Amino acid sequence: MNNFIFQSPTELIFGKGQTDKVGTKISEYGGTNVLFVYGGGSIKESGLYDQIIDSLEDEELNIFELPGVEPNPRIALVRKGIDICEENDIDFILAAGGGSTIDTAKTIAAGFYYEGDPWEMFTGDEDPEEALPVGVVLTLAATGSEMNGNAVISNMETEKKLAIQSPALTPDFSILDPVNTFTVPREHTVFGIVDIASHIYEQYFKHIENTEISDRFAESLLITLREASERVLENPEDYNSRANIMLAATLALNGGVCAHSDIKRTYLCALGKDTSFIVHPIEHEFSAFYDIPHGGGLAILHPNWMEYVMDAGIEKFVQYATRVFDVDPTGKSDEDVAREGIVRTREWFNKMGAPTKLSDYNIDDTRFEEIAERLTADGPIGSFKELDKYDLIEIFKMS
Ligand code: NZQ
Ligand code: ZN
Repeated sequence: MNNFIFQSPTELIFGKGQTDKVGTKISEYGGTNVLFVYGGGSIKESGLYDQIIDSLEDEELNIFELPGVEPNPRIALVRKGIDICEENDIDFILAAGGGSTIDTAKTIAAGFYYEGDPWEMFTGDEDPEEALPVGVVLTLAATGSEMNGNAVISNMETEKKLAIQSPALTPDFSILDPVNTFTVPREHTVFGIVDIASHIYEQYFKHIENTEISDRFAESLLITLREASERVLENPEDYNSRANIMLAATLALNGGVCAHSDIKRTYLCALGKDTSFIVHPIEHEFSAFYDIPHGGGLAILHPNWMEYVMDAGIEKFVQYATRVFDVDPTGKSDEDVAREGIVRTREWFNKMGAPTKLSDYNIDDTRFEEIAERLTADGPIGSFKELDKYDLIEIFKMS
């Protein structure tokens, strides 16, 4: 097990009926002039928008709005948000939505203190050190952004989707009312579930030994997620399934790493392990080029990555198959058991209706080489199995 520092300072306010506390929470954290960031309108349709405005007005907070966050959120809207903050003495940012909205709010919060264009925070060598306080009302269980120090933003001009990571980006509080996820459409519910599973896989498949706590924690999250996913797709308003999925999302990518510092900060699921991700940066390239949903890209890429790297650590894949999917190893070779675990992963994703091939998004091989080159510009990537440009192209072809 490796040494690590884990810190997760977000106040988590979980459960039915908690949304009404948003106004008092902002006051507690010193907010007066509030930038309220949200997406394309789902919160207006669900009534959540009115509920939040009422709560903010009860506290006599000054509200400035920034609607229009798109999935694969854009740097252009971040710039607009920073302008509003500067013009109106904003001292608190509230995000109501999924990962795209939260990441936009976090980037505005850090960009407010950054001298220069906020996109330089993503391309530079330094982690943001200061940010305005951020509060969250989560409406979609997926990214874990509600309790981590990451933000992922797209720049459509340069076709890049990049992340910043810093403790300064961790929200001050997050309100998680599972009822607020009842209205998430089926496809985004599925993308969210795949994203959660993918975050866990990124941290589970490592070669570091003696990480039983992290491994079993990850396995329990995966089993719970798998069981809840079946129930929620039958009944989108099943409170306990929504609650388990929401909590799984928050715990799956919780805490934070620093992008550039040497301090070995980590995530809850990666305690004692290394924190590098592999399928995520690959998927971000596809999202950057083709504007596809993050969870959809992961559903396609992650099982193919598993198949391609399996031989680099077959025991871990056997452990995954037997513990998460109850694969019976009797009379089977390790390779067969490991393969069965990957087949069961694919079946799980397919049964939920997730996309299975890049061609489902009309993506052909035209830009495979360019994407692989961008990913390996500084050399091979991946800690479970090092992948060079040609390995990546192989995985893309399988996908
Ligand atoms: O914009 P609105 O109208 O709100 O609609 C959204 C959006 O169309 C809709 N939605 C959200 N909550 C809803 C709802 N519709 C009905 N009822 C509700 N309660 O869902 C759609 C997708 O929303 P989005 O925020 O884009 O989804 P998600 O939470 O999956 O976030 C994805 C983004 O986060 C990044 C991804 O790359 C992607 O850009 N990630 C962020 C991470 C982080 N900060 O830690 C880590 C992840 O690995 C990921 O990279
Ligand atoms: Zn993700």
